[in-house]
This record gives sequence, C-alpha cells and structure tokens, in this order.
Amino acid sequence: MRMRILAKCLTLCLLFLCNYLSLGQTQGQDTNAQIERRVDNILAKMTLENKIRLIGGYDDMLVHAIPSVGFPQLRTADGPEGVRTWGPETAYAAGIALAATWNPDMARRLGESMGSDARAEGVHILLAPGVNIVRAPMDGRDFEYFGEDPFLASRIAVPFIQGVQSKGVVATVKHFAANNLEYGRSYVSSDMDERTLREIYLPAFEAAVKEAHVGSVMSALNLVNGEYAAENRHLNVDILKGEWGFDGILMSDWGAVHNGVASANAGLDLEMASGQFMSLETLLPAIESGKVSESTIDDKVRRIIRTAVRFGFLDREQLDVNIPLFNRAANKIALDSARESITLLKNEGHVLPLDRAKIKTIAVIGPNAWPAFPGGGGSSQVLPFAPVSILQGIADATDAKVLYARGLSADAAGLPLENDVYAKTVYGNALERAATNDVWGGPETVKIEAYTDKDFSGTPKILHSRRIDAAHLHTPIVVGGSIRYTASFTPIFSESHLFLISVQAEDSYKLWVNGEQVLEKKAGYDSQSTNWIELPLERDKTASIRIDYVPSQGHPQISLGVLPESQLVSEEAKRIAKQADAVIVSVGFDPSVECEGHERPFALPWGQDRLIQTISALNKRTIVTLTSGGNVDMRPWLDRVPALVHTWYPGQQGGTALAEIIFGDRSPEGHLPVTFDRSWEDSPVHNSYYAPLTKQGEIPRVTYSEGVFVGYRYYTSKNITPQFPFGFGLSYTNFSFTHLVVTPATSKVDDYSVDFDVTNIGKVSGSDVAQLYVGDPSSAVIRPEKELKGFDKVRLEPGQTKHISIKLDSRSFAYWDVIHSAWHVDPGRFTIYVGDSSENTPLKTDIVLKR
Ligand code: BGC
Repeated sequence: MRMRILAKCLTLCLLFLCNYLSLGQTQGQDTNAQIERRVDNILAKMTLENKIRLIGGYDDMLVHAIPSVGFPQLRTADGPEGVRTWGPETAYAAGIALAATWNPDMARRLGESMGSDARAEGVHILLAPGVNIVRAPMDGRDFEYFGEDPFLASRIAVPFIQGVQSKGVVATVKHFAANNLEYGRSYVSSDMDERTLREIYLPAFEAAVKEAHVGSVMSALNLVNGEYAAENRHLNVDILKGEWGFDGILMSDWGAVHNGVASANAGLDLEMASGQFMSLETLLPAIESGKVSESTIDDKVRRIIRTAVRFGFLDREQLDVNIPLFNRAANKIALDSARESITLLKNEGHVLPLDRAKIKTIAVIGPNAWPAFPGGGGSSQVLPFAPVSILQGIADATDAKVLYARGLSADAAGLPLENDVYAKTVYGNALERAATNDVWGGPETVKIEAYTDKDFSGTPKILHSRRIDAAHLHTPIVVGGSIRYTASFTPIFSESHLFLISVQAEDSYKLWVNGEQVLEKKAGYDSQSTNWIELPLERDKTASIRIDYVPSQGHPQISLGVLPESQLVSEEAKRIAKQADAVIVSVGFDPSVECEGHERPFALPWGQDRLIQTISALNKRTIVTLTSGGNVDMRPWLDRVPALVHTWYPGQQGGTALAEIIFGDRSPEGHLPVTFDRSWEDSPVHNSYYAPLTKQGEIPRVTYSEGVFVGYRYYTSKNITPQFPFGFGLSYTNFSFTHLVVTPATSKVDDYSVDFDVTNIGKVSGSDVAQLYVGDPSSAVIRPEKELKGFDKVRLEPGQTKHISIKLDSRSFAYWDVIHSAWHVDPGRFTIYVGDSSENTPLKTDIVLKR
C-alpha cells in the first residue's frame, strides 16, 4: 500500500517536473514561443476524448482536470461585486457604481483587490467584468454594467481587467454581445445594424481584448440578429478571433448552448456550466462524419491550455492561503469605491452637508436604511462579512440622537433573499397589518376556482370559499391551468386604497376592482416585484375584487394586499420626522427585485413615493437617498425634496461612505454613467425595448431602432433636457473650465491634443470629472451631436487650478463605415466640447481635419 502511494506521488512529481522543465517556468517568464511549445507538447499527449472533456465544464463552476497531462482543474467564480464563492467575502461597489467614479485608477485598484480575493479563494477564472451597454433602467442587471457609453465602459473595463490579471487570475469580459435586457434573455434576439453594433455595443469588448488582453470572453445568452451568440460566427469568428486577434477562451454563458456542432463551428471554446451539447456523444460522430474537424477541437483545447500556461496555473497552486479573506486592505478599497461613486443629484439651498454642530436629532426612515443592500441580486451577489447599512453609517458618524423607523409596513427584519419568501413576507405582513388595524370591514371571503386550461374556460372546480386572513392567498396546485379568485372588500375609511399584488416573475394575472381591469402582468415580460395601484374607495361600500391568475409552474404563489392610504406610512415615522432637525429617507430596490433574470419597474416599489411625500411635508430638511442600479420615476417627489443622493449599490462600506458625504467630511464625487430620463416615455428606447409578442415558435426580436442614438447621444442631438444628464454629479464646491486650446499632437492629420484648465472656485476641496466630447457636423452620415472621447477626474483644493491635456486619435473622430467595413474619418469640421456633463460643456471650439 505504502509503495503504491509512494509510486503515485512519484508519478505526480515527475509529471509536474516534466511540465515544468519542458514547458517553461512561471507566469510572465515564458515567451509566446515557449508558451506555444508547452501547449503543443500537452496537446500532443491528449486523446480526442480528453480534448472533448476539456471543452465542457462540470459541477456548475469548474473546468475539468486532465491528470494524464498534468492539467489542473480550473475554478471559476462570479463577479463583479466581489469574488462569489458563497461567502463570506468582500463586497465592493457594483459595476455601475464603479463607472460612476469615472476613475480608471479606482477600477485598477478594485480589479487588483478582486484578483487577490480570487487567489485567497483558489479561483482561477473570475467571471467579470460585465460591459453590456445600459439601454433601459428596467434591465435587472444594469447595476453590474458600466453604463450607457462605450468609451467610459472601455476606460473602466481595461484597468479593471489589468488589475485582476496582474494577480494571476483570468478576467472574463461578458456577455458577448448585446445582452441588454433580462426578460426573455435566453430567447430574445437583439437586432441591430452593423454600425450600431460596432459603435455602441462592441467597443468595450474590443478594448478588453486589444488593450487589456483579457484571458476569457463569455458569450451571451441571447440571440444577435437572429443567431444565438454562442453560434454567431460573425461575432465570434470574424470579429473577436479574426479582426481583434483574441487568442484566449471564448466560454458560453451558463446554459447558452443549444447546438453542440453549430457552437463548435462558430468559435465557442468552452461550454459552461457543463458539456451538455459539446459532448462526446455529439462531437465524436460529428468529427467522424466531417461536420466538425479535429483541428477545430484542437484550437479550442489549445486556447484553454494556452490561457492556463500564460497565467501560471500549471506551475503553482492558485490558492494562496497567505492572503487574508477578511481583508482590511480590501475593505478600504470597498470604502473608496463607495466614496467615489455616490452621486449627489440635487442639493437645493445647500441643505447638505449637515452641520454636526447644529443637528441634534436625525431621523433615518425607509426600507433601504436597514439592512444594508451592498449589491443587486443574481450571480454577482456576494455575501459580505459585515456590511454597513445607511442607518449604521449615520449613527456611527455623529453624536446626535439617531431615530429610526422603517416607515412602511411589511418585510421589516432581515429581508430574505429568496423571491418567494420575500413575496410572502410582504403580503403576509401587509394583510396582517390590515387585519390587526381593523381596516377590513370583514368578515370577507374569497372564492377560489381552478381551471384546467390557461384560458379560464370550461367548468371550474370550486375549491372553497374561505375568509381572507393574515396570509397570502391560498394557491391550489394547477399544473398547466389557471385560477380565478373572487372576493369583496368593505373599507372602513373613505380614502384612496393601495391594491398590492405579487406573483413569481413568469406568472401572469389580471386584477379587476368593481368590474374594471386595473392591473395586468404578462408572463415573463414584467418584473417580479410587487405591482400596485391606488384606487379611491368609500366607507362601507363593498368593492368587488377578481384576479385571473395563470401560474407558470406547478407551485403557484400569489399574494394580495389592500391598504388604506392613511395607514401606509407609520405613525412612528411621522412623529420622528416632525421632531428631527433633519431626515434621511432611504428608498430604492433590493436584490430580490433588482436582479439578474428579471426586469424591475421604473417606479419605486409600492409606498415609497408616498413615504417621501409624507415625510418631506413634515420636515423641510428631508434628504432622499436612492439605492438602485439606475434611474427611477422621480416625478412624484423630486420637486418636494431639497436633496437627493444616489448611492447605487455601494458595496459593504456604503453606509460609512454615505455618512461622510452627509456630514461633509468629503465632497461627493460620483458622476452619472447613464442619462436619467424624466419619464420612461421620454427614453429613446421606449418603443423598442420590449419585443413585440410573437406566435408560438417564432423568435421574439428587439429592434434597436434608436441605432447609435442611445442615452445622451439622443438627448443632445434632439436638444431635449433629461431629468439628469449623463456625466452629471454635484459637489460641495464649484469648478470653472477655461483656456481651451486644441493643437495637432503629431504630424498625422487626426492626432490632436486638447488642453484646458479646471479651477476649484468654491470654498472646500472636491473633485470634478472633466469630460471631452466630439461632434462631427460635416459628416457624410448622421452622427450624434456629441460623443464622449476623453475624460479626466481632478481633485482640487479651493482656488487650485489644474491643467489638463487629453489626446485624441483617429478613432476619436471615426464612425463605422458599413460600405468598407472599417472605421472611417470624414475630413472637415469637428466640434470639441469640454465641461462636466453631456449638457454642461462651457468650452467649445471647432477644428478642421484635412484630407
Ligand atoms: C450569468 C453569468 C454568470 C453565470 C455563472 C449566468 O446566469 O448570466 O453572468 O457568470 O450565470 O454564474
């Protein structure tokens, strides 16, 4: 036995030594030629079966080891909020927040820190960053991405990737490409013209490949122009591997492969999370019959081995136990990422910062004040060691008395993350509250009729009538069928009442009150969050309620609540608001609603508009903080509050960073990486975000009819002012922009240097983001009024001036020429704009590019 173990150890040592000697040494020391020799050596020793085994993942997050050639098992883990190994771990500001820092150096530090975290957890491949362009605020994954602008997204993605990879960890840029919605993300086609694809949706991927030499690319779940991303040769073979020369791993998103042969021939190298389609059963016969060539398989294997060799995975252990998991340095980076991303959007009458000397009592109110919401939901969500909530951050930062009330009824303590539990809690409590407050005229009953089809036809089975009590509606099991609920409600107050209804994301329903349909949710297309409507009701006048509910699965779950408006905001919240010297009202979403796989609503969750209205009417010094991955409908309350701070999803130190800003220890620094529309109807994608309904078997298609005019490109071109423009963010000081000079930088006709000065003209130190936009009014094709082509974040003391110099190259002036399939610069007049948002560009000059 002992001999056998010894022999096994010796074989392993020999294998390792062989690899070590014949294939070079450590990461960074191998030249490309040496790497290729090592790869050839390993490949030559592999059987076809082993090769096919390597190109399909297993156990959800792993890539197979091939022990016979000394190839180790590779471990992947999600990002970008942190390195997700199901906790505890460090949670950083989410992707959109990182973009709001407009600080490539912050992105590099954050990437380095995540790289170290990955090493501390033995992770080889980090599944981050996500660089899909934000089209609409309802996409439940916007919070993971870097905003609406391809240039900003590129400048954040490149240093982030370089930071991760500097620690010997492969970064994965995802989701390639045009994954810009979450409803139907696995079956909707993103359709657009080639110019839009090249100018808006691909540049961040291109920069990741060409500049950051990203080790891995993840293809998207969706279709692009009618072909699954994993089967899209134009994207994968022509562009990624051809034009851009990508020589790393192209992996699929989890479950995004539908046809093993098509994907194998379309450039996909690794099927995740398992080799379900690129399997022995599919590929061996396909190779035999010539449908897939063995060299195609070899190329995939070569890429996987090449990447492993390049990152040193064959030469050292990936797990580094000397890196602390509970890491103070990482915690500081999490804090810095929050500090630089939190964005001040409104500050009327300089209500902020609060003066510690004058504020004796602060009321902290709202569902987002506690607990902490470091990130949105889905695969990026990490479980931090000790996240700091807004309530704790404020309380830790002041000697004033801090009073707290959630303000709205329902899911008070420890919000569960499972969506179904959440729904139950909300409605359980909503109804409980209703019941205990005697707002039901009761006793009321509900009739439950189950139908065997989805159309409510035929004779229903009346399950039973039961009293509505403090629980969610009873849900019979109706596989493939539908349920009708009929109930009545007799109010004891004459006032507006909130009807709240919640189901699972793929379910659908219609709600009628007094014979009129008042709410509808279509299957899959709408978010999983609670839907609500306010209706006036009269005391003692019984209202009829009917719900036609079509559950998507065998275990349906529906909850209904009715709340009189006067009972919505709690008495405690009103009382503490009245007596406080200032109020922080913290509203927004949470990971169960703003979440991968779902859309979230444009409106704030139920009751929150009313909470802000009620509290701001009681206390003039009401500061709203907003937790979300992007914009929300602010029309119901923005005019009524003096201050609004957007916290995004700020990571584990969000509460600390917010408190520093509230009390003026630091000036806010964040600037918007997305345009905030006034209303959803104003958005340039309003008519093209949801795919028109299709017949069974047809692909739902979203046509990107706005073309390149996404976000500020639309608003500046149409001369419409949005709620808050792209690039906007207030500080506690002011800045001036002067002395713009544009000069040729080299003898090339399209190399320029743009020079100008930024001065802090206020009384405190602070930072601003100087932004350079280029316009091409004499172009042969229609182009946006302004496009971001450079920026520089400056931190200045009062009175200090900094000279800034930004270089422009030919790509800064170019558009994608569809006729020649190339970037092209039209000679003629160009306008250079400089300022600190897409709307505020006080410096402007024209230059003429000669032929
Ligand atoms: C997501 C990817 C993620 C993967 C693994 C997929 O559902 O779209 O972004 O990396 O799961 O968790």
